[in-house]
Amino acid sequence: MNRNVVWHKPQVNRGMREKMNGHRSAVLWFTGLSGAGKSTLAHAVEERLYKMGIRTYVLDGDNVRHGLCGDLGFSDVARRENIRRIGEATKLFVDAGVVVLTAFISPFRSDRQQVRKLLGDDFIEIYCNSSLEVCESRDVKGLYERAKAGEIRDFTGISSPYEEPVAAEIVIDTGNLSLEDSVQQVVNYLAQQQFFTLPDSSPTK
Ligand code: ADX
Repeated sequence: MNRNVVWHKPQVNRGMREKMNGHRSAVLWFTGLSGAGKSTLAHAVEERLYKMGIRTYVLDGDNVRHGLCGDLGFSDVARRENIRRIGEATKLFVDAGVVVLTAFISPFRSDRQQVRKLLGDDFIEIYCNSSLEVCESRDVKGLYERAKAGEIRDFTGISSPYEEPVAAEIVIDTGNLSLEDSVQQVVNYLAQQQFFTLPDSSPTK
């Protein structure tokens, strides 16, 4: 970072925005193999939260790679940079008072750990646990077949690793559960933790 860049402390801060919204902000970080259902689940959870009056936004791997991360490929280094950028972007959303839901494979434990470090208690990791066999058999985008034919390099699960989370806040058996039950599991966890409820005298941090 350039030494001549000085942090500007804004008059309107996160706590004030959260108070205005009536709920706290946070990141729901969905991780899992391609085809495990991250995107579908993130959007379905968003719909439920929206109906509860919560301000939300979904950042989706395939979409973000059309813009913010359009210059990145799928080497280990590029994926690390992808997740670093997304982590920083989610931090901005959290400061903006929004509940941001992310759907990226985010295959490397150390990269997810970095984001967790950046966000602290605001980070909820949700592992969409679907076996490679199930993802391959679904092959919604036809990418597994192409990866196995050697047409796509560094494909997660085929020629690039996926490191399972060891301490995700929520693990969803997306390979077997219905979408409805998966959404319910996430919502139950959040309700149990009274996650979005602001304390009566919310601090304006
Ligand atoms: S990540 O590994 O850097 O987190 P990200 O979630 O952004 O990946 O993008 C994954 C999506 O890109 C997949 O759902 C798939 O549609 C597409 N894709 C294209 N090439 C690859 C590849 N080599 N490995 C995994 N996904 C790929």
